[in-house]
Amino acid sequence: MHGSPATGVGRTPARPGTGDTLNGCGQAARPRERPGRAQPPDEAFAAAVLTGLGAPRKSIPSTWLYDERGSQLFEAITDLPEYYPTRTEIGLLRDHGTDIARHAGPDAVLIEIGSGSSRKTPLLLARMEHPFAYVPIDISRAFLLHSVALLRDQFPHLHILPTVADFTGPLQPPHAFHCAPARARRVVFFPGSTIGNLAPDEAVSCLTRLRELCGRRGLIVLGVDQNREETTLLPAYDDADGVTAQFDLNLLARINRELDGTFDLDAFRHESRYDRQRHRIEMHLVSQREQSVRVLGHWFHFTAGETIHTENSYKFDRADIEAMAARAGLRRIDGWSDDDDRFAIHLLAPPEAVN
Ligand SMILES: C[S@@+](CC[C@H](N)C(=O)[O-])C[C@H]1O[C@@H](n2cnc3c(N)ncnc32)[C@H](O)[C@@H]1O
Repeated sequence: MHGSPATGVGRTPARPGTGDTLNGCGQAARPRERPGRAQPPDEAFAAAVLTGLGAPRKSIPSTWLYDERGSQLFEAITDLPEYYPTRTEIGLLRDHGTDIARHAGPDAVLIEIGSGSSRKTPLLLARMEHPFAYVPIDISRAFLLHSVALLRDQFPHLHILPTVADFTGPLQPPHAFHCAPARARRVVFFPGSTIGNLAPDEAVSCLTRLRELCGRRGLIVLGVDQNREETTLLPAYDDADGVTAQFDLNLLARINRELDGTFDLDAFRHESRYDRQRHRIEMHLVSQREQSVRVLGHWFHFTAGETIHTENSYKFDRADIEAMAARAGLRRIDGWSDDDDRFAIHLLAPPEAVN
């Protein structure tokens, strides 16, 4: 089964009917915009917020941090001195991009999960042997389309098929799979340690779906944070300039704007915590006083100090990745980490794949 023609692949588009309209293998028609029309609330966002704020321990999945402003703020975080993961992963891609491209082989279809700015992707695309197509998948529609426009200038002959979809659900095969030459390998690029935002069982389910998506000859290029040193982790998620705090608090601004919320942003404070047992960073928004907030007509009460848990970021060593891969029907075939052993890129493939 294919995805809707408005999105090329994927599950529910975040804004149905307004994404890039793809025609066959990569001819992008003009998006069907309807200027001036108020957007109805995103039902999945509304459901996540109402359920999360109604739970005994309030939480909202980190996916919803990424509206257009959230994506811009995340991009700003990646340039901060405290945020080592992006520059470390870029260094690894610079040093080992050629090895990864060799594994990908000629005519590959490259699918990127949670592609964001696609800033790391050229380090692979430029070294791959005439890649056939690039399918960036992200939930943050406007930012995705903006990133793709920049990439099209850099790779004018590549089929680029942006797809607005939620990677926590089933992903449908892109049209590019059916148009690509028979020898083309399907390569998933999942950088940024985004897999660490999922709970361990969800991460395994996600890898399983990616294995199924790519088939028996598939390849997964997975970038993960493996740092477990609180002294560098905590500042990476709570920087001196307060950009991460803005990123976190933007969720409340988004709820106010899209879901008719009444959050007072000055009455909440960003906090990052490290859970040593679970090897995960947590981001929380801490209520500074007792207060009640209305969202879509529903009231939610906060005691002073109560938090909304907004993100987990699990840290994985090599053994964790090998165990997770095995549960997902994959094996680790290669990989690299930086000299300080903070970040790693692992190549995973189904056991039957010839590498
Ligand atoms: C941690 S950022 C990583 C961005 C980029 N890949 C990088 O390495 O810098 C996570 C990215 O995944 C996207 N994202 C988060 N949850 C998602 C979901 N459930 N489905 C699709 N995209 C999602 C965000 O919009 C964002 O671009």
